[in-house]
Amino acid sequence: MGTVSRLPLIAGNWKMNLDHLQAVALVQKLYWALKDAKHDEASVEVALFPPFTDLRTVQTLIDADKIPFALGAQDLSTHDSGAYTGEVSGAFLAKLEAQYVIIGHSERREYHNETDEVVRDKVHAALRHGITPVICVGETAEDLEEHGAAAVPVGQLEKALEGVAKDADIVVAYEPVWAIGSGQAATPDQAQDVCQKLRDVVASSLSEEAAAATRILYGGSVKSSNIAGFLREPDVDGALVGGASLQADEFAAIIRFQKHVGV
Ligand code: PGA
Repeated sequence: MGTVSRLPLIAGNWKMNLDHLQAVALVQKLYWALKDAKHDEASVEVALFPPFTDLRTVQTLIDADKIPFALGAQDLSTHDSGAYTGEVSGAFLAKLEAQYVIIGHSERREYHNETDEVVRDKVHAALRHGITPVICVGETAEDLEEHGAAAVPVGQLEKALEGVAKDADIVVAYEPVWAIGSGQAATPDQAQDVCQKLRDVVASSLSEEAAAATRILYGGSVKSSNIAGFLREPDVDGALVGGASLQADEFAAIIRFQKHVGV
């Protein structure tokens, strides 16, 4: 690898944090921090994943002020409409100009019993509406002990890509469950090893072209002090950032990883 150029993607998963007013404050602060630093917008794609209730507000703000951030949701329904109280359709997200949707985050798998089949159906739902799924996979600490790092994420991705078109636009996020919110990130080597295997899954499940074009992110305790190490790896094309995406200055420093990638 290494010959194909993939635009790095830095994604901020806010989880269940910030109401719509707090969202405005954070987006503005982040934008100004990047402006102050004379950040080169074209060098990296930034995507924000606020709670559903903030989406319209953030969309209006980035539209009005021409802020170069992509918008994404944290989940969607497998269904498009109907009697599914509390669910949110991909059709509604597409209307809000959401370009991305996180699917199969470990917190949804763990607390909402999302199985690999549900994750697969959500991937199809997103693609039906022209939204790029950010498919999350990762092993727990027990999986790591029992099967090593790659087996579980590889199996999860194979399942998630069942029946998906060969040229589908997808993003994959490798998030070891033991690294999420723990302050204990994987090493760049560990991330590279699994991300490379995930790229092989995209090649065999979709196509070589899709594998070359697909961004594979690392997630789990990413901070400004460790981002550069991950992005130096040939198969790591960005990061899915939780906690650190809630602090404007810290997230801006992560977005500007190219400034410290050579260090
Ligand atoms: P973290 O979360 O950066 O707080 O570890 C990552 C995620 O869950 O996407």
